[in-house]
Amino acid sequence: MDLKQHINTDKLPAHVALIMDGNGRWAKQRGKERIFGHENGVEAVRDTVKAAADIGVQYLTLFAFSTENWCRPHLEVETLMDLLIQAIGNETPELHKNGVRLQAIGDLESLPELCREKLEEAIKLTANNTKLVVTVALSYSARWEIVNAAKKIAEKVASKTIHPDQIDEEMVHSVMETASLPDPDLLIRTSGELRLSNFLLWQVAYTELYFTPVYWPDFRRQHFFQAIIDYQRRERRFGKLDNKVAVTKNNF
Ligand code: FPP
Repeated sequence: MDLKQHINTDKLPAHVALIMDGNGRWAKQRGKERIFGHENGVEAVRDTVKAAADIGVQYLTLFAFSTENWCRPHLEVETLMDLLIQAIGNETPELHKNGVRLQAIGDLESLPELCREKLEEAIKLTANNTKLVVTVALSYSARWEIVNAAKKIAEKVASKTIHPDQIDEEMVHSVMETASLPDPDLLIRTSGELRLSNFLLWQVAYTELYFTPVYWPDFRRQHFFQAIIDYQRRERRFGKLDNKVAVTKNNF
């Protein structure tokens, strides 16, 4: 049965963020090297992007490589970068054909030159697409992003472009890596770990969190739809009272 039929298209999350975790454990279960898990993770990315476009999600943000991931063994980092270069090269024509716009956030300067070049090519090629925006977080960490945002605002104050009183949430949003994106409505993390691991910390203030034990290489369209259905059952109040609760309170 395709879970798609249980999704209410009027109540879709506009922005879904994804922590793709469990590649290493998936490979280990099969007696293989960790990179085998990353290689198989590409298929899960393909299926998830297609599923998101299929139901009309507008923004998908993928945590592909964290600032902390640079500390993994040299061979794993190098192979992961090669895999990203390959995946961007192979997938971009199909993404473009399907109206997907590719973006990247993170310290892109720190990526190997070829990776950066391929990424820039793909970003340029897909820049006018509007069906779905896929943002890949590469060499990204939320604290790195917040520190950079603080520096940008401090420079504006130092040059007297703004007064400290003018600093508000909107201004902070405008200097974040995700300035062009709405905050995520739903964040999915695979592999059973229950943490945010330095991903989009500012942006997830009111995001619904969904954790699944499925390892990333096994994650498919049906898992994605299951997360959306779970999200649609929840009531989002953004710290406020819902109408019913408010009426009851006023009656006393
Ligand atoms: C986490 O699993 C996964 C990563 C660090 C890499 C994710 C990268 C891909 C899925 C490659 C393709 C990406 C794109 C955008 C084309 P882990 O190694 O931390 O697994 P573990 O927790 O089981 O060790």
